[in-house]
Amino acid sequence: MQLLLAGASGGIGLAMLRQLLGEARWTRIYALYRRPSQALEALAREETRLQLLQVDLSSDGDLEALPGKLDGPLNWVINTSGLLHDSDRDMQPEKSLQQLNRDDLMAGYEVNAINHLLLLKALEPLLAKRDTLKVASLSARVGSIGDNRLGGWYGYRASKAALNQLMHTLAIELTRLNRQSVCVTLHPGTTDTELSRPYQARVPSQKLFSPAFAARQLLEVLEALTPAETGRHFAWDGEAIPW
Ligand SMILES: NC(=O)c1ccc[n+]([C@@H]2O[C@H](COP(=O)([O-])OP(=O)(O)OC[C@H]3O[C@@H](n4cnc5c(N)ncnc54)[C@H](OP(=O)(O)O)[C@@H]3O)[C@@H](O)[C@H]2O)c1
Repeated sequence: MQLLLAGASGGIGLAMLRQLLGEARWTRIYALYRRPSQALEALAREETRLQLLQVDLSSDGDLEALPGKLDGPLNWVINTSGLLHDSDRDMQPEKSLQQLNRDDLMAGYEVNAINHLLLLKALEPLLAKRDTLKVASLSARVGSIGDNRLGGWYGYRASKAALNQLMHTLAIELTRLNRQSVCVTLHPGTTDTELSRPYQARVPSQKLFSPAFAARQLLEVLEALTPAETGRHFAWDGEAIPW
């Protein structure tokens, strides 16, 4: 069984990778990262099953070159990459309409939605046509339109809603490729990572998960999902989230 994990240097991505490496069933794990990470490099020194690949998911050149670096078939593909804020460009989640700007909205759509589908476009020839095929992208409950009572965070909410729609559409196509396939979006719960750190102040401590806890929960949820549940959005505890 082979797995590809994108966003492997991120808080939840790295925690997932550590847990996956503890499972003997994975004969090879491809870990995609953008910025070099000492933690990833240390893991790769210890684990011959782990292959690190530096890929900027926003680069068409990187995506075109990727399949040539992989041996299929891939049985699981998990993408944890995501963007909520970026201090380098003063990007913050918007609290009101007047805070919206085009560049930040576009950046959110690119990283949170478009890159996920273009990665899967690049990987499609390598996806398992028989046997297990599980494809999961990390989304967020705030992408649910039905669940939106607080407002705010326009760009992040909309880009995650777009991701949910894109992955739902892909799930239908993947069912034709492999009738056993499962293709879903997952919500990790509020987790203590760089992404959530500036917004944790009002989160009760019991509702702020460690990356290791979120990773374990999400992998258990994905493991348990069956083809009957493909195309949907699930939370860390297995609850189905409304669109
Ligand atoms: N933490 C939470 O509370 C929470 C809640 C709900 C949903 N989520 C979702 O869970 C996922 C994981 O989040 P996290 O908390 O682990 O955040 P994180 O630590 O900030 O990790 C995000 C990852 O995305 C990667 N990334 C961003 N743009 C990329 C690109 N163009 N190419 C390649 N990699 C790129 C980052 O790589 P670099 O470090 O190299 O930029 C990083 O590894 C995200 O999709 C997030 O929206 C998180």
